[in-house]
Formats: sequence, structure tokens, C-alpha cells
Amino acid sequence: MSNPNANIKEGFYSKLFARFYDPFMESMEQRVLGRYRKQLLEPLSGNILEVGSGTGINFKLYPKGCHVLASEPSEHMLRYAQERLKMEAVSANIELVLAGVGSQELEKKVPPGGFDAIVCTLVLCTIPEPEKAVESFKKWLKPDGKLVILEHVHAKTHPRKAFHTILNPAWKHFAEGCHLTRDTAKMLRNSGFEAEWEHDFTKVIPFHVSVMRLQN
Ligand SMILES: C[S@@+](CC[C@H](N)C(=O)[O-])C[C@H]1O[C@@H](n2cnc3c(N)ncnc32)[C@H](O)[C@@H]1O
Repeated sequence: MSNPNANIKEGFYSKLFARFYDPFMESMEQRVLGRYRKQLLEPLSGNILEVGSGTGINFKLYPKGCHVLASEPSEHMLRYAQERLKMEAVSANIELVLAGVGSQELEKKVPPGGFDAIVCTLVLCTIPEPEKAVESFKKWLKPDGKLVILEHVHAKTHPRKAFHTILNPAWKHFAEGCHLTRDTAKMLRNSGFEAEWEHDFTKVIPFHVSVMRLQN
């Protein structure tokens, strides 16, 4: 039987990573990512599962009336998210849970077919087995539910693609398991999702943004 807390992160490096995550991302958030987060999250409604909510950067963008179950397996990240909930004006009802996809803890909290939307921002790059995670998303979404994605992805062209491949092993260590080499849009299509809206752009590294639904 798997450990219910198997993917909870609590080591010293995880603490350091959580401490410097927001300052490290700040300029990128202000210049480009913040705009996409707004565009993706402000139209949402109903019951939402946010996977890997990190320091809670998305919380203030959920509209009033949403109930958001925010799951995060790093207790250090979760602490910053709790602080943020106290400091920022948040309109939605946010419930934080210390658990990641793949843990029994989250399985117990999440009703099958219970979510109008699942939000994954900068998470499918890090989750150890993204295909398995996506199978869980299919189970947890309502039949017409949306999968909301903001992700950095593998470059499509050389020499950048080769550079990411070479850098990836070191990057994974530095960035708590984050991969530079995932083709998330392709993986989601192969798993049965289709894009209702999508956009690819490059800002230092390539990004994919989309709202996906399960194909009928
Ligand atoms: C790069 S951070 C992104 C945080 C936030 N979503 C954002 O948009 O800034 C990746 C997050 O995924 C979390 N994570 C890692 N494995 C996970 C899993 N199995 N389930 C859910 N979250 C996970 C990490 O703890 C971390 O907080």
C-alpha cells in the first residue's frame, strides 16, 4: 500500500526553494505570466481543483462564488500560500490541502466527477508522472469540465531544443523536479483532451497556455 504522505516535501532544499520562488519569478510574472493567469482564471466558476498551488499566486484571480480546493504537497509552499490568504483580498472560497496528485490524501478529498475546472499552472513540468496525473484529472472533472493549463514546454526547434535537453538534468535538481523537456500539449492530446483555446509563445523559454476539454 502506498504511503498517504508519499509526495509531501519537507527537506531543507524544499524550504529554500519555497522561500525564493516568488522573488525568482517576479519579473516574469509582471512582464508576461500574470496577464495569462488573469485571462485563464477570471472566467472560471463553480468547483475548482488547483493542483500544485505553490505560494498561492492564483488565489486572488478566482472570481467570487468559486470554491477552490488548492492542493500542494510542499509544506513550505503551503505556508506561503496560507500567509498570502491572510494578506491578500481573495474573493473565492479557498480550501488548502497538504497533498499532491498521486497521494491517498488527495484521492480521499476529491470526489470523482466533482470539478468544473482543474487548474494546473507551472505544475505538469514538475509532477513525476504527468500522464498518470492527467488520468486522475479525467476522473475528477465533470464531463464538460475544463482543464486550464499554463506551462513551460520543450523548445520545438534546434539549437534551443538540444540546449534544454543538455541542461535538463541539472535544472531538475536546481528546480525541485521541474523538467525543461516536456511536450505538455501533445501529452494532453494523447490523453484525450482537445483545446477549446490555446496559445504558444516564447519569453526566455517556450510556454503553452490553453483551456482544454475532454474529447467526446
Ligand atoms: C513551479 S511550482 C508552481 C506553483 C504555482 N502553481 C504557480 O503557478 O506558480 C510547482 C509546484 O508543483 C508542486 N507539485 C510537485 N509535485 C506535485 C504533485 N504530485 N501534485 C501536486 N503538486 C505538485 C510543487 O510542490 C510546487 O509547488
